[in-house]
Amino acid sequence: MDGIWKNLTGTHLVAFVAPGLITKTNSMEAPVQNVKSVRRSKEDKKLLKRQIKASHTLLKHEGITTASQPTQCVVVCNGGLGNGVSRELLMAVLTEGGAVESLLMPPNKPYSFATFASLQESQSAHTLCNGRVLKCNGHHVTLYCSYVLPVEREECECVSLPPGLCVLEDFVSPEEESRLLQAVDWTSHIDDVTAQRELKHRRVKHYGYEFRYDNNNVDKDKPLSNGLPLVCDTLLQRCVCDGHSSVLPDQLTVNQYESGQGIPPHVDTHSAFEDTILSLSLGAKTVMDFRHPDGHSVAVVLPPRSLLVMKGESRYLWTHGITPRKFDVVPASTAERSWAVNFNPSDLTLNQRGTRTSFTFRKIRHTPCDCAYPSACDSQRPPSPPRLPVARSDACQLEEQYVHRVYEEISAHFSSTRHAPWPRVRDFLLSLPNDAVMADIGCGNGKYLGINPQVFSLGCDRSMNLVSICAERGFHAVVCDALSVPLRSSAFDAVISIAVIHHFSTQERRLAAVTELVRLLKVGGRALIYVWAMEQEYKNQKSKYLKTNKNLENQENMENQESMENQENMGNQENMENQENMEPKTSKENTERRNALDETEREASVRQVHAGKASSNPADAEEDCGKEAPPRLSVHTNRTAFVSQDLLVPWHLRGEVKASPSSVFHRFYHVFQRGELEDLCVSVTGVEVQQSYYDQGNWCVVLQKTHRP
Ligand SMILES: C[S@@+](CC[C@H](N)C(=O)[O-])C[C@H]1O[C@@H](n2cnc3c(N)ncnc32)[C@H](O)[C@@H]1O
Ligand SMILES: [Zn+2]
Repeated sequence: MDGIWKNLTGTHLVAFVAPGLITKTNSMEAPVQNVKSVRRSKEDKKLLKRQIKASHTLLKHEGITTASQPTQCVVVCNGGLGNGVSRELLMAVLTEGGAVESLLMPPNKPYSFATFASLQESQSAHTLCNGRVLKCNGHHVTLYCSYVLPVEREECECVSLPPGLCVLEDFVSPEEESRLLQAVDWTSHIDDVTAQRELKHRRVKHYGYEFRYDNNNVDKDKPLSNGLPLVCDTLLQRCVCDGHSSVLPDQLTVNQYESGQGIPPHVDTHSAFEDTILSLSLGAKTVMDFRHPDGHSVAVVLPPRSLLVMKGESRYLWTHGITPRKFDVVPASTAERSWAVNFNPSDLTLNQRGTRTSFTFRKIRHTPCDCAYPSACDSQRPPSPPRLPVARSDACQLEEQYVHRVYEEISAHFSSTRHAPWPRVRDFLLSLPNDAVMADIGCGNGKYLGINPQVFSLGCDRSMNLVSICAERGFHAVVCDALSVPLRSSAFDAVISIAVIHHFSTQERRLAAVTELVRLLKVGGRALIYVWAMEQEYKNQKSKYLKTNKNLENQENMENQESMENQENMGNQENMENQENMEPKTSKENTERRNALDETEREASVRQVHAGKASSNPADAEEDCGKEAPPRLSVHTNRTAFVSQDLLVPWHLRGEVKASPSSVFHRFYHVFQRGELEDLCVSVTGVEVQQSYYDQGNWCVVLQKTHRP
């Protein structure tokens, strides 16, 4: 047990179990212990066992080991802030043994170190405290003591408050405090005055304007009647006179926290409120945690009757929140008037929380926020991407906004980039017998409807604009949803669905889409399905989608070339992979190769669109406390590997005029993993998968209907 271990303060400590309890022949043993151990040997044995266990735990978890002789320093296991023992209580029992020179209580640890003026005193304290049961706040703890080499501590760095934050002690008198508290009638529920809400972790009333936790904002056009309580007038005027705020607040949120309750970390919505936020603490002391986005955090003590003023960086960039707990670790001495907790183990104790009522005053903002912290600013940031849907209604809404509306908006530009058929799709269509009947589900601009003139081809698509383009080109097409196609069952020799099923946002809907395709097929009929693959690098080959990470200028050229429509020389399906390995030689070949690219090859730009981070505000905070919300979709960076299966892919819309600024639309995609499409197809009854392959960044399946379900 003489290894060297690092303890939490960065000092090397050595501890040892009291010799009196290890061996009865130890020369250091005090006679009184001998007598005790003889008389109460059974109890002593039990204590010894527990003490050894405690010291083992200390060694195992904290790296603190025993000394070989009694010292002036005692480690008190279970006598720490982490298990609810306050400095005052521990000090009282230790001083029964002698004068305590220093008592180090590391925050959140279940032990403390006491240093005594003499060896005699430390031994006496050891004897008195080892096995001693303390009653603290309704529970009992048994202390176990061991000697350690004197603990040296590095000086703590002085913690300062976040920039823009200040705590004004005694801002209101005890009389004002009780007047303010009395003014809040928690039994009254007149909604148009106070908009009272019972939240999961506290109760809250709003005055002036209601802060809505569903949209993280205030209804600026719907002030609550009566405004702020009159009782606040003098203190608010004082805030303005003393320069804490330049304007009189017009919104008040009163929160009441019982001991053990808190509020998750949040930044007050920038677009809702002006810079200065004033928060008055009444009733009981608490600790509020401030956190910078870089992870740095500061715990701030809020004494009762104090005013917290948040401005600038502390208001806009740092989150603030209250950890739900019954005790806070706070400085024991009040000599130092710094409200930022230094976590200096020689001056920490516990504060039991009582009921705290906060009055938070804010000024409604009527113009967008233009603060210097755009990363945290909802006024300066694109709206957060949607979440992955779970419920059917959410899925429909997501697809409506992030698939159907987008295709409608981009139809002309999209169509101008979709002329060349993919070789293996073309081959499938050309392999159909004359007079076959074929349906193209999600036909887009109808690029596959005219491939085989011997076949009767019918297209359908959700986009009215794209179906109109099909009609203009002389093709048969109808507007409908792929989940409910208004065509007869078992009427088609072939069905294709190219780059469509990846636009459905749940597994259930993707399965329903395949089932609907199969419904249309005659028994013996075949369907060809293409979906975008998660794997854009396959068999050590990067897909064209990844390879063609060119600058915008090249893309412009490429698009010009694409409009040349050189279809008759398309490479066939067998040699397409070989073509991948060859360097392009002629511009004609270049065109052919590009024509064979994955659909998204035509994404007009590689500029990165960053998804705005989910806003950190009280509403999200509320939401985060309860059921876990599904993740937000990430916005894909074009021409890069996929990092998730469900994502938004930007489409940079270009107008007629080259110089016109492009606007960005986002389409929802579920990119398929290897085997996923095949699994989906085989789960449909009455089908057999005939072929399954990877083609230029897509997973593809040919299936045959074997019987009616
Ligand atoms: C990537 S495009 C593919 C178009 C065409 N198949 C092609 O290969 O060029 C996807 C098409 O699916 C259509 N689409 C998406 N969701 C659909 C749905 N639920 N029902 C019908 N069509 C849908 C879109 O309108 C769009 O035309
Ligand atoms: Zn802002």
